[in-house]
Amino acid sequence: MKRIILFGAPGSGKGTQAEKIENEFGYMKISTGDLIRDEVSKKSDIGNKIEDTIKSGNLISDEIIIDIVKKKINGKDITSGYIMDGFPRTLFQAEALSKVEVEKEIPIFLKVNDDMVVKRITSRLFCKTCGKIYNKKFNPPKKRCVCDNCGEVLSERTDDSEEIIKKRIHVYRKETMPVIEFYKQKGNLREIDAVGEINDIYSVVRDIIK
Ligand code: AP5
Ligand code: MG
Repeated sequence: MKRIILFGAPGSGKGTQAEKIENEFGYMKISTGDLIRDEVSKKSDIGNKIEDTIKSGNLISDEIIIDIVKKKINGKDITSGYIMDGFPRTLFQAEALSKVEVEKEIPIFLKVNDDMVVKRITSRLFCKTCGKIYNKKFNPPKKRCVCDNCGEVLSERTDDSEEIIKKRIHVYRKETMPVIEFYKQKGNLREIDAVGEINDIYSVVRDIIK
């Protein structure tokens, strides 16, 4: 069993690369952002509780997110591996994850600069039905605002405004950079320059996880 962990700032391309890994290798994508946005759109008890936190750009509590990840890992038959997109994001989460044993763990850090983050996020679109990620400028759908996969009308995320992006970058630096440092200390973190064409970045990712 392999565990790929994708680290990086908001907009670094974690979701985009996770989707490609899932399609090629069949590893299950566990995107905590997608999972909690599902809870919000279902208007579940958890969803109602966390909606404002997501909109504000803050992290939701470790307890809630760990519970959601546990359910996802235990609820499905994972055969060969899984990809963590957006988890762990705090040292507490990293410690919880390290208790789940795997044969091989591959943490990958997608490095981007802040200007690029803002450019990418302010032009992002996504499909609420299948989760596919697009970009108005860099990765547009074939038909304007319509999902290539399922034909749904594409949406914008409620936390993708320029003001909230700044907050998310701040939270990332404060809470998640120490986690990246933790994996660096472990000695197996792979760092990638994630500015460039999506497919060029994927070919580097692919070589690492093959
Ligand atoms: P989450 O959904 O995980 O957001 P994030 O970490 O801020 O990251 P993003 O999803 O914004 O960016 P990404 O790296 O996936 O980039 P993407 O591939 O989409 O979390 C949202 C919220 O949920 C958090 O703020 C928090 O409240 C909560 N949460 C989630 N996990 C949590 C946890 N573990 N603990 C506590 N709270 C948690 O790409 C971005 C855009 O750029 C797209 O438009 C894409 O098409 C485009 N793009 C991608 N790659 C390229 C490229 N190479 N060139 C040009 N454009 C590109
Ligand atoms: Mg994402």
